[in-house]
Amino acid sequence: MKEAPDLRELARCAKKARSRAHAPYSHFKVGAALRTRSGEIVTGCNIENATYGLTLCAERTAVFKAVSEGFKSFDAVAVVVDSPLLAAPCGACRQILWEFCGNVWIHLQNLKGQSKTLRLVELLPLPFDRRNL
Ligand code: THU
Repeated sequence: MKEAPDLRELARCAKKARSRAHAPYSHFKVGAALRTRSGEIVTGCNIENATYGLTLCAERTAVFKAVSEGFKSFDAVAVVVDSPLLAAPCGACRQILWEFCGNVWIHLQNLKGQSKTLRLVELLPLPFDRRNL
């Protein structure tokens, strides 16, 4: 697939998920929404912890929710933040997304509606995965 699909609905879901973020320490709320190839949407938000290190990013929350519910095949993920600088998934989330979603579309958006859509391989160009084992 060359051209990015319409990911506006997915971004709306990520925006709604963002409102449920638990981010009392960083105050940086993130929402994510993951779409299966058959069109189901699973969302996630970042969930922080007083120990800091146990914080779970929005993207991994969404992936782990989806996988635990039995969803297997994904084509896109949207990530919404309230920042002029669009937030790409962190390194750990890139690795987890690659494991379960492969080279999906990544749609980054902020609350002003500014957005950028790219493929995961652009963020993780030389992935380590099962082919290495
Ligand atoms: N965060 C995410 O949810 N996703 C990312 O890809 C980057 C960072 C969260 C973690 C933490 O709660 C807050 O943003 C600040 O780092």
